[in-house]
Amino acid sequence: MSQYQTLENSIMADIAASADEAAIEAVRVAALGKKGSVSELLKGLGKMSAEERQEAGPAINGLKTRVADAIATRKAELHDVAITERLARESVDVSLPVRSSPAERGRIHPISQIVDEITAIFADMGFSIAEGPDIETDYYNFTALNFPDGHPAREMHDTFFLQPDENGERKVLRTHTSPVQIRTMEADKPPIRIVIPGKTYRQDSDATHSPMFHQVEGLVIDRTANVGHLRWVLEEFCKAFFEVDTVVMRFRPSFFPFTEPSFEVDIQCDRTSGPIVKFGEGTDWMEILGCGMVHPNVLRAGGLDPDEYQGFAWGMGLDRIAMLKYGMPDLRDFFNADVRWLSHYGFRPLDMPTLFGGLSV
Ligand code: DAH
Repeated sequence: MSQYQTLENSIMADIAASADEAAIEAVRVAALGKKGSVSELLKGLGKMSAEERQEAGPAINGLKTRVADAIATRKAELHDVAITERLARESVDVSLPVRSSPAERGRIHPISQIVDEITAIFADMGFSIAEGPDIETDYYNFTALNFPDGHPAREMHDTFFLQPDENGERKVLRTHTSPVQIRTMEADKPPIRIVIPGKTYRQDSDATHSPMFHQVEGLVIDRTANVGHLRWVLEEFCKAFFEVDTVVMRFRPSFFPFTEPSFEVDIQCDRTSGPIVKFGEGTDWMEILGCGMVHPNVLRAGGLDPDEYQGFAWGMGLDRIAMLKYGMPDLRDFFNADVRWLSHYGFRPLDMPTLFGGLSV
């Protein structure tokens, strides 16, 4: 057998043996590539005598043509196989139900929803949002808010105290959002109109109390703010928040160290129809917030002159209001991270609460 025939047989065997497109390409490079076995033979023609070339030329060119044809045929076959395989692998069952996107499946926690609703209402009235740290100094949580040292109100708050630091200073988990009043007065000049949503902490735990809970605080300071303005702001807020045209509110005298005078506000409601309380009607009263005119000592602690400035403030617990507005029976479920609870009580993320689009549709 001639050397050409031997080479041809060996290449043809490789062609037949190649199982995929990469393998046949390797065979092509090995035979017909720049340094391939057949290409090397062709290069050799130049060095032959005229007679030798007369015989070898047609033999080598014939070999080259047959090899190239065989490779092209095998390549086409393997390409078809690859496509058929891919079609089988990537087939889509169009009869399957459409899988919903994370944005459709995810739910906003009712507390986040309530915060969005409340801030939307106050933003519409020209308020901005302020925040402060959860770990507070005793000064901001109590002293600057006119709680004297040793005053029983400090104990009333069931405070979580941290270990004292090297200076003997004992930080606290803030028991209310009121410390942000002082932080805001220190940082901004009046007129101040802010709402402060945030987490607060007290040692208390049952069906309606959790050691971590949420409040929204409000603060208005300018030269003329008065109790009439306070009433109007809270009334407008309650109508928007409870989504009713009228609310009946009751301001009862109360005591907070940081306000004078101080009030507790009740709102008329109807509790006769199960866990969802109806607001703006009925014969029951429900306490919803504490408020008052900012105490002169608090203004001073915030660096403001009480002869020049005055203001009002309020603070409201969110968790209980969320329970009543949306009919959830147990507060502890809020923080159990149970997906079934969240998908039942949660809100769709793309339904942002706005005053024009509706708060809790
Ligand atoms: N900080 C009070 C609390 O947690 C709530 C409160 C009452 C805040 C009256 C105020 C206020 O700003 O004026 O019980």
